[in-house]
Amino acid sequence: MSSNKALSGIRILDMTHVQAGPTSSQLMGFLGADVIKLESPVGDATRGQLRDIPDADSLYFTMLNCNKRSITVNLKNDKGKEIFTKLVKTCDVLMENFGPGVLERLGFDWENVKKINPRIVMASIKGFGSEGPYAAFKAYENVAQAMGGSMSTSGLFDGPPVVTGAQIGDSGTGVHLMAGILAALLQRERTGRGQYVECAMMDCVMNLTRVKWRDHQRLTRGPLPEYGCQEFEDFTPRAGNDSGGGQLGNAVQCKPGGSNDYLYIVVQEHVWKALANRIGGEDLINDPRFEKIENRRANQSEMWDLLTDFASNHTKRELMEILNEIDVPCGPVMSTTDLANDDHVKLREMYLELDHPERGKWYNLGCPIKLSDSPVEVTRSPLLGEHTDEILSDVLGYETNEIDNLKEAGAFSRPPRRK
Ligand SMILES: CC(C)(COP(=O)(O)OP(=O)(O)OC[C@H]1O[C@@H](n2cnc3c(N)ncnc32)[C@H](O)[C@@H]1OP(=O)(O)O)[C@@H](O)C(=O)NCCC(=O)NCCS
Repeated sequence: MSSNKALSGIRILDMTHVQAGPTSSQLMGFLGADVIKLESPVGDATRGQLRDIPDADSLYFTMLNCNKRSITVNLKNDKGKEIFTKLVKTCDVLMENFGPGVLERLGFDWENVKKINPRIVMASIKGFGSEGPYAAFKAYENVAQAMGGSMSTSGLFDGPPVVTGAQIGDSGTGVHLMAGILAALLQRERTGRGQYVECAMMDCVMNLTRVKWRDHQRLTRGPLPEYGCQEFEDFTPRAGNDSGGGQLGNAVQCKPGGSNDYLYIVVQEHVWKALANRIGGEDLINDPRFEKIENRRANQSEMWDLLTDFASNHTKRELMEILNEIDVPCGPVMSTTDLANDDHVKLREMYLELDHPERGKWYNLGCPIKLSDSPVEVTRSPLLGEHTDEILSDVLGYETNEIDNLKEAGAFSRPPRRK
């Protein structure tokens, strides 16, 4: 592990599982923290979920757990608890995203953890936080999207609510958690004290739909002219692909008409003349239906029809080039295959080939946070318990015979489930 990364010297005890927590600790690992993933001897459930290669850790696991070491400890065993307590003493951050009540049952909630190490920053993700009417409920991605206002505002206005492809409930919450941890570490520089950082998935989804709350309040003053739908109730409606901002925008179908042959075009006020000239010449520039943004808003379906006619003669890439020449903000709808083969994506190291002892060559996405003094080296995810002995001896100073005794006492055995 390099000693000159942004988070070098920060050791994280990572008890996170599934997606929301692991994406957060993986980001911390990308930035140079020593992330020790502590798993039950059964392993993070995602190791075995949606396997594409028999007996190999799934891509679900490998893609969310790079730049970590793995130790397995049975926290329902007294000796296992002893190891955990020692690790808490040596770590700067403890991360977890268990269901409600799990840590309390294990005896390691914040009240107890801070007694073990008052300097530690403890960071939790819960579906709905530790208090309130929903606090006792478990949550997964789409539950958070449903309850945080994302689903009710996504999809076509006359269709059912839709979840987004971006995992804003899980990975989005993970990014929020990382911001909270970094802030708490900075505050600790001044106070010498750790603190508890909590992110609820529902809160984070609400935060990511913040702009929909602008529209929720604007509705009290009348209809929202930029929305394609004509009738409004007292809540922010679904907007399909309408632009969410002050400019008109939409996805326009291009040649040859496949499922991702669309270009998203933003008709910025000050590019309209050049755009109108390119698709319809002087007549369109002078057409009063489209002269100012308020005219185009009122007649937007005719405007999109004109753009769609023009687009039908070009592929999304050709149309992007034509519009970029006249400075119109636009972007082709990229499929995963488009992105995997994209030179820009490769150059920015956002799709990386890695090696793995069980699965051979595979790909992970890179780190989207680029630091000039802390270049990211992505290293493969660890096998279950791959570093157990290494961590017990190097971090905790156990001798081989002590490790054998701990083994005998069940510190690394499979724990019973509560129910
Ligand atoms: C994701 C979630 C729904 C999964 O639920 P689940 O599979 O029932 O798992 P839980 O977190 O509730 O419980 C984990 C169990 O493993 C046990 N466990 C975990 N690590 C252990 C270890 N090292 N040793 C022994 N036991 C361990 C816990 O003690 C607990 O057992 P218990 O129920 O007998 O007390 C739940 O963890 C959750 O709501 N998390 C918070 C929200 C979240 O992050 N959701 C996003 C998921 S991507």
